[in-house]
Amino acid sequence: MNLRLKLPLSILGVFLLSLSACNKNSQNQAGESTTAQTADSSATASPEASIPAKADFQSTVAGKQTDLYVLKNKNQVQAAITNYGGRLVSLLVPDKSGKLTDVIVGFDQIKPFTEGGDTYFGALIGRYGNRIAKGKFSLDGKTYTLATNDGPNHLHGGKVGYSRVIWDAKQNNDSTLVLTYVSKDGEEGYPGTLTAKVTYRLSSANELRIDYEATTDKKTVLNLTNHAYFNLNGAGSGTILDHQLQINADRFTPVDSTLIPTGKLEALAGTPLDFKNATAIGARINDAHQQLKFGKGYDHNYVLATQKSATLKPAATVLGDKSGIYMEVSTQEPGLQFYSGNFLAGKNQIKGGKQDEYRSAFCLETQHFPDSPNQPNFPSTVLNPGQTYKTASVYKFSVKQ
Ligand code: BGC
Repeated sequence: MNLRLKLPLSILGVFLLSLSACNKNSQNQAGESTTAQTADSSATASPEASIPAKADFQSTVAGKQTDLYVLKNKNQVQAAITNYGGRLVSLLVPDKSGKLTDVIVGFDQIKPFTEGGDTYFGALIGRYGNRIAKGKFSLDGKTYTLATNDGPNHLHGGKVGYSRVIWDAKQNNDSTLVLTYVSKDGEEGYPGTLTAKVTYRLSSANELRIDYEATTDKKTVLNLTNHAYFNLNGAGSGTILDHQLQINADRFTPVDSTLIPTGKLEALAGTPLDFKNATAIGARINDAHQQLKFGKGYDHNYVLATQKSATLKPAATVLGDKSGIYMEVSTQEPGLQFYSGNFLAGKNQIKGGKQDEYRSAFCLETQHFPDSPNQPNFPSTVLNPGQTYKTASVYKFSVKQ
């Protein structure tokens, strides 16, 4: 049932009075009016967010049905996921005034996801998150060739990858969605039939947990992640430059001009890439530092650990300066790609009729390090038959006044 229908009558009265002041964005996909939640909301307050209409995600792509699945908890937090690329489409969390805010930047219908203009919005990324140099790697003396879909390099699993395939979806209750995808031996050039299972789980403590599991029938490489674009002030609310970010890393993996790691782990202290103490994302983003030039801003892998952890470890925190929404990221992965939306260019119309403006969203992709298959000093991304790839990451939401 739509949350707004549950509003007490008194609030509904305020809604009716202020209806004339609502702007044209106060219509959701189902054509229903949306409204601010609190009695003191001014006419300029943005409307309370809602989940896109399921019907706008029901389509047939490559002979398979796409749909939108909604997880919800007792705190009215809701996560909407489509099985097209296993994408996180919306995540509604309360801001400091209790207003539900959609912190995921992306589209509110399937069409723009399938018809280009895509920047991996919310997608599951596989088989390999981030870049593989020149689209080549070797295993046991055999060289494998992948698509070079990012200048000279391979990015995020190739031309189709996992972000543009239809996952099989199974939702048994309000808190859990299980997605599975079997990638054929040789798909996108990678060896082995890979069976992947990704579980999205929403807890009553406002945690969105993503569990990744996979097995292979041939030796292969694998690095799964999620490419959610966050704006903790709300999708379409402007840049993320005043968000406060903290990352639990002392080192990062510096890159060359094509964003391939040099192989070194370098100290962050004293550089504008250091987020050991919470700092505004925009405070140093335009500093004259070669790594920031190469990334056109932040687009770097932070070293959380030198190997995968057996348990979840705190990786990063982010505070939305306007909303007070506070996100804590924890992961078993050794790396975290912090990407400050430098390639967003206002070309895509996103939710609520807004544009995906430059640096209006950030990603924190939990992962193994980029180009690990070609970097003997990095933690291994090899998966052997008989082994099970298993890793988890959690995004937890609360507010700070
Ligand atoms: C990469 C960026 C890339 C972006 C695409 C990030 O994970 O690090 O370089 O442009 O994904 O959305």
